[in-house]
Amino acid sequence: MKIIKKVSELQKIALKHLVNKDEIGLVPTMGALHEGHISLISKSVKNDDITIVSIFVNPIQFGQNEDYLKYPRPLEKDLAICKKNHVNYVFVPSAEEMFPRANRTRVEVKGLQDLLCGRFRINHFSGVDTVVAKLFNITFADRAYFGMKDFQQLRIIEKMVKDLNFRTKIVPCEIVREKSGLALSSRNFYLNPEEKESAVLISKTLKLAKEEIKVKSFSAAVKNAVKRISSIKNSRIDYVEAVDFNDLSPVSKNTKKAVLAVAVWIGKTRLIDNIIISKIVRE
Ligand code: PAF
Repeated sequence: MKIIKKVSELQKIALKHLVNKDEIGLVPTMGALHEGHISLISKSVKNDDITIVSIFVNPIQFGQNEDYLKYPRPLEKDLAICKKNHVNYVFVPSAEEMFPRANRTRVEVKGLQDLLCGRFRINHFSGVDTVVAKLFNITFADRAYFGMKDFQQLRIIEKMVKDLNFRTKIVPCEIVREKSGLALSSRNFYLNPEEKESAVLISKTLKLAKEEIKVKSFSAAVKNAVKRISSIKNSRIDYVEAVDFNDLSPVSKNTKKAVLAVAVWIGKTRLIDNIIISKIVRE
């Protein structure tokens, strides 16, 4: 496994693989790797000739009062995980390497970036799209792997790839959960034991809502979910919303497949989660 810090070095290596007709897989991460990331890495190792993992806590996707500085950075542990899981290259650029001061370009996916999390994290998705676009151009990836926990991120990146004609195919990957149901996230590291108990109730609420939707309207199930989450100790809701699975538009009586998505603060930690509801929706 080779560790690369420079954009030009990775681009040169990736280009050689491209010319050799090796299929290149990219797993973009911000580090603090957990079983969720490992499932993405394993998929790439299985599908692709070459697996590149990027570890970069991207400053331009964090708002001013967000957790950029305290975001966990256990680099040695992350590198050991990559090695154990047969990664070929780990890309660990500095912030200055990825975004030199002269950098002025930002990628935006209008509309989609302003919904759900975008209402609360202004400029977040533009920061994500810009770094992901750069990673695609640096790695020439044939496939890039994204978890469905960040469902809005996934849909926005798919749209960016389509609109900007990137060669990279996006591979959506299932959410990995703890036995308790809690969706794995690097931000779970912030939770104390009591907060973790609260966080578990988010996924339980989503499961209940999925059941309720079989017999109730979407709006009724969402209302109940809001009630349940509001009563969780230490919780504060950013949003609980049901949106169309394909384009994140509001659900209607014609919606066939939906996602119930939530962003909830537990204490000082903001968690997101979602559940897919595949049925004809009665609204
Ligand atoms: O999902 C993440 O970890 C980040 O948003 C990503 C895609 C690595 C871009 O920084």
